[in-house]
Amino acid sequence: MKLNEPIVLNSQIKNDVKFGNNVRVVMPSNLYGCIIGDNSFIGPFVEIQEDVEIGNSTKIQSHAFICSLVKIGDNCFIGHGVKFVNDKFINNGPAMGDKSKWGQTTVGNNVSIGTNATILPVNICDYVVIGAGAVVTKDIINPGVYVGNPAKLLKLLK
Ligand SMILES: CC(C)(COP(=O)(O)OP(=O)(O)OC[C@H]1O[C@@H](n2cnc3c(N)ncnc32)[C@H](O)[C@@H]1OP(=O)(O)O)[C@@H](O)C(=O)NCCC(=O)NCCS
Repeated sequence: MKLNEPIVLNSQIKNDVKFGNNVRVVMPSNLYGCIIGDNSFIGPFVEIQEDVEIGNSTKIQSHAFICSLVKIGDNCFIGHGVKFVNDKFINNGPAMGDKSKWGQTTVGNNVSIGTNATILPVNICDYVVIGAGAVVTKDIINPGVYVGNPAKLLKLLK
């Protein structure tokens, strides 16, 4: 094989990102076209794509991936390595950028998502805890703790 130089794209905060007051971002992180609310924190090695909205006082821990069509509320904790999914491979494979085949996710307020959880396109209500390593495949409509793959209710929270 011929030896070539790759095209290197550095991680960056693009100037189309809208920040509230007092937001902290640890680099390297890759943020573009998103909105980050007041007092929120973004740890290192995080990617946040265009059209994502993150509320106030929400913490995004290192190595999280937050894809387009995700909206996260206030006072949330998104653990290390949490991955959101918008392309469910509805036609037995990647949508190859066809956004009409993507799904959206909303996360309410006061939601904590444990390390390495995967969140498919779903709606999660306020006051929910998702256990480490869970895979959330369905809407969560009651405040509670949910664990496992697929995520199931462990206990309700009042
Ligand atoms: C889900 C969680 C909140 C539950 O905590 P808890 O209420 O104290 O639950 P317990 O430890 O009493 O466990 C209750 C049951 O759930 C199971 N369980 C707990 N966490 C689990 C998880 N993440 N996935 C699958 N099952 C889990 C336990 O094995 C136990 O099962 P059993 O009753 O059959 O023995 C916690 O275990 C967790 O995953 N927290 C995430 C923390 C995190 O990622 N922090 C990031 C910053 S470091």
